Amino acid sequence: MTSSLRIISTSESVTFGLGKGIGQQACPGDVVQLIGPLGAGKTQWVKGMAEGLGIKENEVRSPTFTLMHVHDEGRLPLYHIDLYRWDHREAGLEEAIEGNGVAVVEWADEGPELFAGVASLRVSIQHFGEHREIQLEGPQIWQNRIAGMREQWSGPFAKLPMR
Ligand SMILES: Nc1ncnc2c1ncn2[C@@H]1O[C@H](COP(=O)(O)OP(=O)(O)O)[C@@H](O)[C@H]1O
Ligand SMILES: [Mg+2]
Repeated sequence: MTSSLRIISTSESVTFGLGKGIGQQACPGDVVQLIGPLGAGKTQWVKGMAEGLGIKENEVRSPTFTLMHVHDEGRLPLYHIDLYRWDHREAGLEEAIEGNGVAVVEWADEGPELFAGVASLRVSIQHFGEHREIQLEGPQIWQNRIAGMREQWSGPFAKLPMR
């Protein structure tokens, strides 16, 4: 069974807050795929996740030129990966994704082979007028957390027009 949820994010602080909630509840081995165009808010989400894990927000920036940033100072290690320039050969990502920390991957759709057989949360962010539409999809192990997000976040924004 997969669960899914769509939320309209009306500002960067909503996207940050959604990521923070996932960071606060993060478990060892979690993998979060972030999918969406440049400027969608993927890094904003990661900043929120980092804060939720107890990592200082200002240390998080897109690792576009380095493939991965490791943040060790939080409740669990956070592996912040960006596949934008990944050439499918550079090694080291499997250990981060299969390890006991938390991996969050920008441009995850550039490397679907990394997620085969991994029970990851997929977060797809699209521009929606001036806002963002954030879709969460996850298998069983994410079900309760997605349900919690539905309770916390869909209410106030339910009035907004949906496609
Ligand atoms: N609802 C929103 N959610 C996230 N970011 C938003 C939103 N509305 C505007 N923004 C802005 O969009 C930009 C997103 O940047 P960033 O998170 O670096 O995107 P990405 O990592 O997807 O390229 C930021 O400048 C942010 O202030
Ligand atoms: Mg980014």
